[in-house]
Amino acid sequence: MDAEVYRDQVRFELERQRVFTSHWLVAGRSEQLTGDGDWLVYEAHGESVVIARRSDGSLRAFHNVCSHRGSAIVGGSRGCDARRFTCPYHGWVYDTSGRLLGVPEREDFSPEHLASADAAPVAVDEWGGWVWINMSGPEAARSLRDSIGTEILDDLGTFRMEDMRLHEVLEFDVPVNYKAVVDGFNEIYHVTQLHGVPPEFTKAARCATFHVVGDNYMCFVPKPEHLEELTSTDYDHQRFAICHYLVFPNTIFNCNPGHIQLFQPLPIAVDRTRFLCWEIVYKGDVDDPGYQRYWKRTMSQWEGLKTVVGQDLAIYSEMARTKNSSGFRRQILSEREGKIAHYHANMADKVETH
Ligand code: FES
Ligand SMILES: [Fe+2]
Repeated sequence: MDAEVYRDQVRFELERQRVFTSHWLVAGRSEQLTGDGDWLVYEAHGESVVIARRSDGSLRAFHNVCSHRGSAIVGGSRGCDARRFTCPYHGWVYDTSGRLLGVPEREDFSPEHLASADAAPVAVDEWGGWVWINMSGPEAARSLRDSIGTEILDDLGTFRMEDMRLHEVLEFDVPVNYKAVVDGFNEIYHVTQLHGVPPEFTKAARCATFHVVGDNYMCFVPKPEHLEELTSTDYDHQRFAICHYLVFPNTIFNCNPGHIQLFQPLPIAVDRTRFLCWEIVYKGDVDDPGYQRYWKRTMSQWEGLKTVVGQDLAIYSEMARTKNSSGFRRQILSEREGKIAHYHANMADKVETH
């Protein structure tokens, strides 16, 4: 594989324009926007989008770009109880769906210019307790559920992420291309050397299954202690395997039976990524001993995962040292790194045949 896909500025711009503006991206958790007027701003790959809850419970999203002269309308990243948003530059006023309500000194403008001056809409939907947006807008965007695909909706849906709650979001500024971060979640090969996991686990990954669902895919990596169950007719992959789901281009769910991580590398520049790790957990009664056991186990696993993420981050730093090296020209992939090849082929296809 050609190493240029990680550093070519033109290629990055094409991915930004052709992929990130037309695919569904996660913007947050539904639970972050519960009340009328709660809002948050999604910001990455040059885009800034406001998402707000309306009084009827629905969400609206619009570009955080003032129709007057392009200032960001909304400052900050989150708030509640908003009724209006006022642009800080000349005071144009928008409602929480992006509709232009007020223009100071209105008579100085041509009425026809103001007739279509609402903030540009962005498609928004909710699934799995997550808020998703699509820059192609409510008219043009394919439905979220069609985009995710029935097989993934069904399989990932059984974890009932909508009944879970956000425990923590880790945020890192990573000095490599976002696809290098995606790659790290698309193979198990590195876990023995980098994470110190016994080689049996890495070998067991030879029995992983990889299911392509449109642009997305799911992958089930059997735990070595459960390899025997693989041949049983009622094999329960969600119990005996680690379940990964990738919703193209950058939403990666890592499911353990008790808790789930969403790994989200957000492109900032060709060689810079804002990397978010979301941890969601099941709700329960803190006084219930069963839930207390669950909580202790889950938190100890989460602490372990944070160490693992730290090891991944250390590798991104090593990769940052060589990202522009003339000695880094290509990559050699094994059969078990086939998901990386698939991901990059899909990306190339989107960029080239747009
Ligand atoms: S740029 Fe927003 S009111 Fe002028
Ligand atoms: Fe890793």
